[in-house]
Amino acid sequence: MAQPSTAPTPGIDWPLADEVLPSHWLSRLVYYARLAPSTHNTQPWKFVIGRRTIDVIADEARWLRVADPHRRELYVSLGCAIESLRIAADFAGYATDVSYFPIPQDATLVARVEVDGSGSKRDGALPYLLPRAVTRRTSHRKFDPAQAVTDEDRRAIYTCFDSPDIALHFITERASLDRLADLELLADRNLFADDAYRSELAVAVGEGFLGTSWLVSKLGQLAISTLPVGRQVAQSDAQRVASAPLAALLSSRHDQPLDQVHTGEAYMRIALAAESRQLRMQPVSQVLELPEIRVQVAEAAGLDDRYAQHLFRLGHAKAETEARRRRPLKDMVLRADL
Ligand SMILES: Cc1cc2nc3c(=O)[nH]c(=O)nc-3n(C[C@H](O)[C@H](O)[C@H](O)COP(=O)(O)O)c2cc1C
Repeated sequence: MAQPSTAPTPGIDWPLADEVLPSHWLSRLVYYARLAPSTHNTQPWKFVIGRRTIDVIADEARWLRVADPHRRELYVSLGCAIESLRIAADFAGYATDVSYFPIPQDATLVARVEVDGSGSKRDGALPYLLPRAVTRRTSHRKFDPAQAVTDEDRRAIYTCFDSPDIALHFITERASLDRLADLELLADRNLFADDAYRSELAVAVGEGFLGTSWLVSKLGQLAISTLPVGRQVAQSDAQRVASAPLAALLSSRHDQPLDQVHTGEAYMRIALAAESRQLRMQPVSQVLELPEIRVQVAEAAGLDDRYAQHLFRLGHAKAETEARRRRPLKDMVLRADL
């Protein structure tokens, strides 16, 4: 029997983000999924909508092959989108069930999400995060050093996710933060010395999805691809890490794509729980992009036998006035079997 194209539960007061809400009930979930954070705002995802399923697919055309050769950031980004989608379903009262990598030979079909419009919500559903955080969250770069992250904030963040094998570590000791800043400097210097890395970054900046106007994007693209901006970037990145109000690292026991997807799901929950407490976050990626430095990050954070997956700063910051743009829904959704 064909599923209705209108929502099975009518009268839901969906919070609007940047566009008119689509009418199809499953497209609505994707509308929120695409507000998830992603590396360099590449939004490296596609969604195939079936009768009761949404396939979440890694868009290889948007994968940063040079910066992220092992696809860790790609899968972390996909995990963020999957969790965003499920929180939208929680909000509507739909049940979701996820099969990860359902076709073992296909590393791009990351998840098949079954949605049941009349099922019961999943354990640990946090429906209030949709209006309170999914449509408001942005990544931040400037924090207010005068406002501390309280123990209660930390507890709330620590307990907001329950992903198998993923752990969160807060990094507060001065010596560890300084060590991370040194590693960030080293990583940035090495990465920016690579022409291919700079060209790839220039394309991402030039696309204009990183929160800059078209003209500034084009100028940024020109500067990154032609000028020695690496030293400047390295120094300001390192300073940011050293001055983090609080740094945190998500780690996993194994280093497979599924661990990285689960890392993204955990990060999404943390970012949303943080936003709902007016706490904001900035991921710090470069330091994990070179394998030998990534291992040293794990050591600096005191991890034994675990893999560093996603590092971020968090603290209080003023809400951003302008959200970074998202690609239109129609460019990332395929509707099959409707
Ligand atoms: C895996 C991953 C890596 C990221 N790395 C960085 C980073 O190194 N520096 C940074 O400022 N933001 C980083 N971000 C944040 C993205 O730039 C941000 O999510 C994107 O621009 C969309 O903006 P929004 O989060 O404000 O919606 C990262 C996000 C993800 C998911």
